[in-house]
Amino acid sequence: SAAMRQDILDLLECLPKETQNLLEAVKDTAEEEECSVYVVGGFVRDLLLSVPTQDLDFVVEGSGGQFAQALMRRIPNGKLTQHIKFGTAQIVFPDGSHVDIASTRWEHYSFPGALPQVEESCLRDDLFRRDFTINSMAICLNTDRYGELVDYYGGKQDLQQRKIRFLHNISFIDDPTRMLRAIRFAERYQFDFAKETLDALHTAIETGVLSKLSVERFTEEILLIYKEANYLTMGQLLVNSGLFKAWFGKDLAWNFNLEDAVGSAEWSLNLRWLISLAKMDSLEIDIVLERVILNKSLRDETIAYVQLRESLQKPLTISEMDHLLNKAPKRVVTTLARDGRYNKRITECLEAGQRINMALDGKTLIQMGLKQGPEIGEILAQVRMAWLEGRISTAEEEQGIARQLVNAQVKRR
Ligand code: CTP
Repeated sequence: SAAMRQDILDLLECLPKETQNLLEAVKDTAEEEECSVYVVGGFVRDLLLSVPTQDLDFVVEGSGGQFAQALMRRIPNGKLTQHIKFGTAQIVFPDGSHVDIASTRWEHYSFPGALPQVEESCLRDDLFRRDFTINSMAICLNTDRYGELVDYYGGKQDLQQRKIRFLHNISFIDDPTRMLRAIRFAERYQFDFAKETLDALHTAIETGVLSKLSVERFTEEILLIYKEANYLTMGQLLVNSGLFKAWFGKDLAWNFNLEDAVGSAEWSLNLRWLISLAKMDSLEIDIVLERVILNKSLRDETIAYVQLRESLQKPLTISEMDHLLNKAPKRVVTTLARDGRYNKRITECLEAGQRINMALDGKTLIQMGLKQGPEIGEILAQVRMAWLEGRISTAEEEQGIARQLVNAQVKRR
């Protein structure tokens, strides 16, 4: 309707200038190329919800490759990649954001005498292949229809009624990552599941649909969840729905406790990940590591976490402890410091570490008469230990103990 179109034009006007310029460029390109073009999916959903969105997806009813190249002439700072085989193109901007261009027709597939397809049905099919009704809307960007909402599957109504609803009941079988996406969208926007969607989700979990999913794609999806502001309630849903049990083969002691929220100041994917494992024993963490493929930093930190935690089960002197804490990645220490079982000892050690105020270095030791060699490192370590254990607390005392140690060493030679 005209009112709806005006609402959308108003919403589009509130977007950042660069986004508006991009949409204008797409509109002008569509005129030039004489084809229909739509912005689709997450962008439309977030526009109607008035929440910011990052990446834009376009669907062109016409030649995608030609469209992408024509668009490039209007946005010179982008870098174009074409995937002829999949009929898609991607333009990446210097800040890392990107736009995807899908096409209902790709020159590679066209052949002489091919019948022109019925335009409307192309877009309809494209939208029907998507996951949820709220992600299946499009906005036309052609001059005469600019701002017109295309909503074949009731997406707008589901947005208003705050529902996650699949488009068809084999949606999760077609693509099991959608089970995780359903949970992510529901908790991100605080929406409910439509009844048949929730039933289908449970059926899919029970019938083992997840086994069709690769470890890589599963990992990708759960890391997307860990990046979300509401990742803790998403995590609880992954556990309570039985999805995690189905994937990992048993119930594990996942920690998605709201008390353990990682504040925005110390936000880091790695920290969130480590904290979510904090209630598991080492064997359980091994099971997790077998069922996800983490990047090197995440994997190394997970292993360092298990190792440091095991070391802390034994009695340790303060300098042994200091050594271990200094060696471990910072986020591993932060995770254990948040754990009631280790908090006191770690805090004590870190506080003792903060009292260290060493002026002494290798050069000073050489001036005091020591030769270059391993003794220098040993004496520095002993002086550090004296600070840690509280045996010295001033620069004079440090000088004194250093002199004693140097003299003992020189005498020994
Ligand atoms: N899509 C889908 N099934 C998937 C992944 C994506 O149907 N498994 C469709 C949806 O229409 C979605 C669009 O592709 O809106 C773009 O996907 P993506 O960029 O992953 O998601 P967004 O909806 O943009 O969500 P986000 O805000 O998390 O980026």
